[in-house]
Amino acid sequence: MPKNSQVNIGLLGLGVVGTAVAQVLLDPSGFLSERTGSPIFLRRILVRDITKPRSLEIPSELLTADPDAILADPEIDVVVEVMGGEHPAFENIEAALRAGKHVVTANKELMAKRGPELLSLAVDSGVQLLFEASVGGGIPIVGPLRKDLQANEIEVVYGIINGTTNYILTRMGQEGADFQDALAEAQAKGYAEPDPTADIEGIDAAFKLAILASLAFHTRVRATDVYREGVSKLKARDFRYAEELGYAIKLLAIAKKGLDGVEARVHPTLIPKDVLLAKVDGVFNAVEVTGDLTGPVLFYGRGAGPQPTSSAVLANVLEIARGLASGDGSPAPPVVDRGFPVKPMSDLVTRYYLRITATDSAGVLAKISHVLGDENISVASVIQKETDPVEGTAELVLTTHPSSEKAMQKALEELERLDVVWEIGNLVRIEQMGD
Ligand code: NAP
Ligand code: HSE
Repeated sequence: MPKNSQVNIGLLGLGVVGTAVAQVLLDPSGFLSERTGSPIFLRRILVRDITKPRSLEIPSELLTADPDAILADPEIDVVVEVMGGEHPAFENIEAALRAGKHVVTANKELMAKRGPELLSLAVDSGVQLLFEASVGGGIPIVGPLRKDLQANEIEVVYGIINGTTNYILTRMGQEGADFQDALAEAQAKGYAEPDPTADIEGIDAAFKLAILASLAFHTRVRATDVYREGVSKLKARDFRYAEELGYAIKLLAIAKKGLDGVEARVHPTLIPKDVLLAKVDGVFNAVEVTGDLTGPVLFYGRGAGPQPTSSAVLANVLEIARGLASGDGSPAPPVVDRGFPVKPMSDLVTRYYLRITATDSAGVLAKISHVLGDENISVASVIQKETDPVEGTAELVLTTHPSSEKAMQKALEELERLDVVWEIGNLVRIEQMGD
């Protein structure tokens, strides 16, 4: 393979991440070039509106609103996609790969929905498609799964991979804040988007988990395969009760490989408060990967933000540039799909935390236990919390031994029919971690 005397970059997007990437690529000290052995040039930047004021001084000739100015430029070796969304990012990356250009993307939505077909196209085109920034911002996790941990059979991946919800849950847990107040605070600090749906409903975390599970288990896990529950039903008192029981509550992304398939789910989860993941607070992210050779390995850091994310994007650019500069090329690894099925949520067996408001009178607990017993759900603990003498109700907090999700959902329907049950306040799954 001929050696490149220089490496030319085309950047798609100049927003939060693109600006941070451009700033480093335009750094006159040329320190990136030193690290690759050949000069790296930012040749063109695609934006929607070239007249928009920019926070970074950009030579005007670099800006274009025409994707072909990058995709059809034979001098451009590497396309960096930081536009976001599925379209037109998919079409642009597809065109770049077909034109024999290497691609780096930060786009979790696209990689979760269309990653396997784009990765296959990269292999067919003899180029690389790298996506470190798509999960965990500045935390190296995609690279370690692709390279450093590749000799392992990965058994479990646990992730706190959405900073916005982790900030909200930390405020609720540590300060007793209401969900709405904690969300407003996250928005005021610029962590949560004005429309926070993708974060608080677990959509962003499900995209990231689909990417991690696919890499970890060498199988196709689609975003739509991931079971997902958001955080908006949690109340400050759930955190208090969980704490009394010895747990923290996190929006946990969980992927496990068993003999009969893969589990992939994102939902609020009680985790023992003494495990490392329980101490991951605020906007920080962490991913714990358990390999058969390594045992658990923990990755922790800033999961978003312009500089951390640009670190991941630029690391991928450097990896490709080094291959081009040395003439070794950068062949994409083959795409392996072991075809494991993703198990339905109804197959799950786990422990549960259940908060119920019920009539405060003799025999009520027996009725509730009876419903659970009929579904073969064994109660591990019951605590009676606040009572309301005016309404004549009490709040009951139960935990169960490992039980089937299918049975639990059936029991919930039965409980809702009981005249003594006023409200099923919350059902949260418990992960013992390491069991
Ligand atoms: P952003 O601030 O909204 O920036 C998007 C950029 O893309 C803008 O410069 C926009 O142009 C350009 N763009 C969008 N659609 C376009 C189109 N159809 N044609 C031409 N240009 C278009 O987004 P971001 O926050 O930087 O995120 C970029 C990607 O990084 C996303 O995939 C995101 O999920 C991922 N990511 C972000 C973070 C983070 O902390 N922000 C962290 C990890 C991963 P204009 O400037 O002209 O509007
Ligand atoms: N919205 C995401 C978060 C950051 O809150 O973690 C981008 O992945």
